[in-house]
Amino acid sequence: MKGVVLAGGLGSRLYPLTKITNKHLLPIYDLPMIYYPIMTLVDAGIEDILVVTGGNSAGEFLRLLGNGTAFGLKGLGYTYQEKEGGIAEAVSLSKDFVGNSKFVIILGDNILDGSIKDAVQGFEKGKGAKIILKEVENPQDYGVPVIKKGRVTQVIEKPKVPPSNYAVIGVYMYDKSVFNIIENLEPSKRGELEITDVNDIYARKGELSYSIFDGEWMDAGVSIDSYLEVNNYVAKRKKENPHYWRLRDAGN
Ligand code: G1P
Repeated sequence: MKGVVLAGGLGSRLYPLTKITNKHLLPIYDLPMIYYPIMTLVDAGIEDILVVTGGNSAGEFLRLLGNGTAFGLKGLGYTYQEKEGGIAEAVSLSKDFVGNSKFVIILGDNILDGSIKDAVQGFEKGKGAKIILKEVENPQDYGVPVIKKGRVTQVIEKPKVPPSNYAVIGVYMYDKSVFNIIENLEPSKRGELEITDVNDIYARKGELSYSIFDGEWMDAGVSIDSYLEVNNYVAKRKKENPHYWRLRDAGN
């Protein structure tokens, strides 16, 4: 399996912190934000990663991450999303990198305290797509699944009346059929190609499997408060256990 980290966007919800730099370069306690999703992929056994960036300070990713050997990666590549075309458009830029592999995508502002290794390994034999769910108090802020008889039948982006208490976290697994789906996708009302629409297509075809994440999951990019909360959480975890996120971190 290959890995893709999405680290583009303007980070406007964290403005002006993101006025001159990329959101995923901002610190989460003692490490740049993008280290955490990379560590999550490395922990899951991924050795070949593509970073899709965009917006400000794109060149800084190369200075920061180099060729990825500090993380134990065999390969680390970079590409650039020219416009704010949405998560699904960013995914489409990984087509050549992915080739015939299956792959796992992680959003660069998603901080996971726990492992996705089992979920990723489980998909190696699967087909179609797989998402990871987490029960939350505010599902209306995320992609939300409709679950019927233990199957995801639909996925709805930020629904006013959530059909379940689960959020679709920012980790998605696909086979190469995803590129065809994205090519035929219509932009949403905000003019972007939405990853939730991609997942909804798989769900309606009965090709969307899922795992429930049993660790802590946080999206550091929702608001300045979520960013602060994630920083405080990570600081606390590292003070409790200085070895926490150490090997999985690299470079410190
Ligand atoms: C994005 C996705 C949403 C998902 C969330 C996870 O939302 O659109 O479906 O639940 O990431 O972090 P955004 O953070 O871009 O609003």
